[in-house]
Amino acid sequence: MPTVVVVGASGKIGRRLVRLLAERGDEVRAVVRRPEQADEMAALGGTGVLLDLERTDVEGMAAVVRGADAVVFTAGAGAGSGPERKRTVDLGGSVLLAEGAALAGVERFVQVSAAGVDRPVDEDADPSWRAYVEAKAEADTRLRATDLDWTILRPGPLTDDPGVGAVTLSAAGDAGEVTRDDVAALVVACLDEAATIGVQWGVAGGGELLDEAVQDAARSQAPPRRH
Ligand SMILES: NC(=O)c1ccc[n+]([C@@H]2O[C@H](COP(=O)([O-])OP(=O)(O)OC[C@H]3O[C@@H](n4cnc5c(N)ncnc54)[C@H](OP(=O)(O)O)[C@@H]3O)[C@@H](O)[C@H]2O)c1
Repeated sequence: MPTVVVVGASGKIGRRLVRLLAERGDEVRAVVRRPEQADEMAALGGTGVLLDLERTDVEGMAAVVRGADAVVFTAGAGAGSGPERKRTVDLGGSVLLAEGAALAGVERFVQVSAAGVDRPVDEDADPSWRAYVEAKAEADTRLRATDLDWTILRPGPLTDDPGVGAVTLSAAGDAGEVTRDDVAALVVACLDEAATIGVQWGVAGGGELLDEAVQDAARSQAPPRRH
């Protein structure tokens, strides 16, 4: 039974992901910040692990991921947070997870990022929005530069509508609205498909059935980056 560490497990995608992985029999270490969230993770079938991304270090992270088969980063400081927390969570948390995974010898890493973050931000943009975009872009750049077996998913605006089981994946980064249900299912499909290692996709909802979309898009990529 594979062991998967979910960082951002109490989030809207995270909860869906913990449930999906647990339902199929994976062992899920669900990283959360508060004890009551750990109880919620148990109800979803995971094991809550207390860790605050902004109050730990690489060794602390490595201790949490050691022995796992894969890690997933789907954390974020969230709406209403300022520029500082975009850097400490959206960027810093991802970098910490990558460094902790590398230290612990865990190679597989799937990151939930966001669409369009490589595009320049308007000069008069809200500072928190600018910080969010820059944090996501830099987190992806840093992850791509590692030797980890990464996959980066860049969905467009997320919705809480029921999943449709279909997505459109774009190596060029094109993206659109997509349900959190479908992004969570896409993460699972990527974990299952080694050909998604070394790919970064823009994600939109609807289109091809999810597993087929993953296989087709992975096949049509340049040879996957392996090491
Ligand atoms: N909203 C959109 O339309 C959109 C579009 C594309 C991509 N995204 C990205 O997709 C990802 C997942 O989205 P979502 O809707 O599931 O986000 P979410 O519900 O806001 O979940 C974020 C998670 O990050 C956790 N977190 C925040 N700070 C933390 C810390 N210091 N230590 C540990 N965990 C921490 C939160 O924990 P707490 O519950 O303790 O706060 C929560 O579990 C995010 O990175 C988001 O930026 C969003």
